Amino acid sequence: MENLSRRKVLTLGAALGIAGMAGTTGTAWAWSSKGSIAGSGTGADPFQVWDDTADAVAKALLTEGKVPEVNTAWESWIDNNAPLPAGMPDYLVAYLQQVNKLPSWADPAKLAASEKLYTRLSSYLFVSESLGSGIMSTVIPREARAVYWSAGGADMKQRAAKTFTFGYDLHNSKAWAPDGHFVVTANKTRLVHAVVRNLLPTSAKYQAGADQPKPISNGDILRTFHSVATFARSNMLKWNIALSTAEQDADLHAWQVTLHLLGVQEQFIPQTWADAEAQAQHMLWPVLGPTEEGVSLAKTLLGYIENPTLGLDSGFVNELVRYLLNDQMGDWLGLPRDYAQAALVRIEWPAYVAFREGVSKIMPGSFYLFDQFVRGISMMYLNNGTSPTQTPITLPTANRPG
Ligand code: HEM
Repeated sequence: MENLSRRKVLTLGAALGIAGMAGTTGTAWAWSSKGSIAGSGTGADPFQVWDDTADAVAKALLTEGKVPEVNTAWESWIDNNAPLPAGMPDYLVAYLQQVNKLPSWADPAKLAASEKLYTRLSSYLFVSESLGSGIMSTVIPREARAVYWSAGGADMKQRAAKTFTFGYDLHNSKAWAPDGHFVVTANKTRLVHAVVRNLLPTSAKYQAGADQPKPISNGDILRTFHSVATFARSNMLKWNIALSTAEQDADLHAWQVTLHLLGVQEQFIPQTWADAEAQAQHMLWPVLGPTEEGVSLAKTLLGYIENPTLGLDSGFVNELVRYLLNDQMGDWLGLPRDYAQAALVRIEWPAYVAFREGVSKIMPGSFYLFDQFVRGISMMYLNNGTSPTQTPITLPTANRPG
């Protein structure tokens, strides 16, 4: 009987063309932990691993109705070296004392090198992460559904601003410094995910399409890491941006520490970029696809980036998304074609980067258009990051209303 069910699942998987995908029903996890920073593993499937300690803390906060007072208490808790704020339950304080620090294997020299690299490349990273990874997240089915049905899905402008907070706090000159913000921001994010893991299983609409007992497993977080960081590195290389081996190591190291701070076990965190690429091949690219929720989220997100925010033509933005991702993803999201803008983007974006980086002496005719675009995207991060009212990361108390 068990065999029959398994066969049925596999047959269905094959019919849907999903055989071999990690993280979907009926398929095996096949990335070896030999390529992890731990160097070995238990053989566990990261899509079956969550974050038990954080999840238990979040459960207690929700059950005791403590979330609003924690949000108030930690509003002023921002700097990496700031003491934990008063006004939080003892068990939350005890948990944060355990996790709000760098792992023993964190390398301060590499983290400092990542700050330099990210400062140099921030404008390209912001382009890759907003119009690239941000829109790609809407074709990662589990992520799209989780975001849509959580509270933040009903206010994507706020949610995007919170994500900019994370991006800005990581990609600046003092991310890891005592007066930087990133360690605190990552810890807040880890706890947001833990609260979501407790809340979403109570949403009937989310559950209707759910394929795992609770969302945001270690595997799902790694998948998002690839859609952001592995993707960004491949973009930088594709655009011929000079990246030394030491810089690439620093980039990976900053993300290894980030994944640890987000609650991912060391047996799953890739050790080298080659290991990361192999993991992404296994767990990210094969599972991308459209969902009703993702199409709706993408529409909302692109609406903020086009005319009202940056004064950009929607044809230009849609074609940039298609260029950064690919036409299949653009088609899934129903992005209308604009072939004139497509030609402009495909020819002139690489020329713009080459000129800006000093690789070419020829200034493309559309230099100012791209410059306005790059500055506009950067300002969305910088305004949010440097403003005294940086959009704070808060724990949700409920799912999406309605
Ligand atoms: C919240 C980043 C992976 C779903 C957040 C927040 C940040 C963040 C900064 C807080 C801002 C906010 O509340 O909107 C990340 C990073 C990830 C990651 C850096 C991996 C590298 C995931 C995955 C999922 C997910 C894999 C789902 C499968 C959510 C949801 C929220 C959230 C539902 C809460 C939104 C709400 O408040 O309703 N994430 N995330 N995240 N994330 Fe993630």
